[in-house]
Amino acid sequence: MKKLIALSLLVILSACDSDQTVEKPDGAENYALMCAGCHDPGPGHPGTMLLEQAGRPVASLFGRDDLDREYLRTIVRQGLIEMPPFRPTELSDAEIDEIYAHIMSAEPPVTTPAMPVK
Ligand code: HEC
Repeated sequence: MKKLIALSLLVILSACDSDQTVEKPDGAENYALMCAGCHDPGPGHPGTMLLEQAGRPVASLFGRDDLDREYLRTIVRQGLIEMPPFRPTELSDAEIDEIYAHIMSAEPPVTTPAMPVK
């Protein structure tokens, strides 16, 4: 009987374990959770608006072909002026790389400028 209980506990525990790997968010989900609110294309996103003000040719992160992986990692870890830094407990290095891969693989947006163009 004891053996049976131990065995069923083991089965339950390993089931929990595999559930966790399934639920781990991927690059697209982490982007949506941690970055989209400030960096999605269009008005109402402070990151996009400030980067447009700073004169970036493409203001959203999507569609940038000049974003270096090391540069993005450094910004995410240290922040930049208005952008808060992210700790390794919030985003691991691997998760930052997945976000980078997602940004690079996404289709460039058809942008409506964040600010009116004359
Ligand atoms: C609270 C809003 C906010 C969040 C959340 C945020 N950012 Fe930013 N980010 C900004 C702002 C604002 C800037 C522009 C810097 C400035 O002028 O203040 C910026 C700049 C950047 C830059 C530099 C781009 C360039 O052209 O130099 C990168 C790269 C970047 N963010 C990546 C990310 C990633 C990846 C995430 C998610 C993990 C993220 N940001 C989350 C607000 C945010």
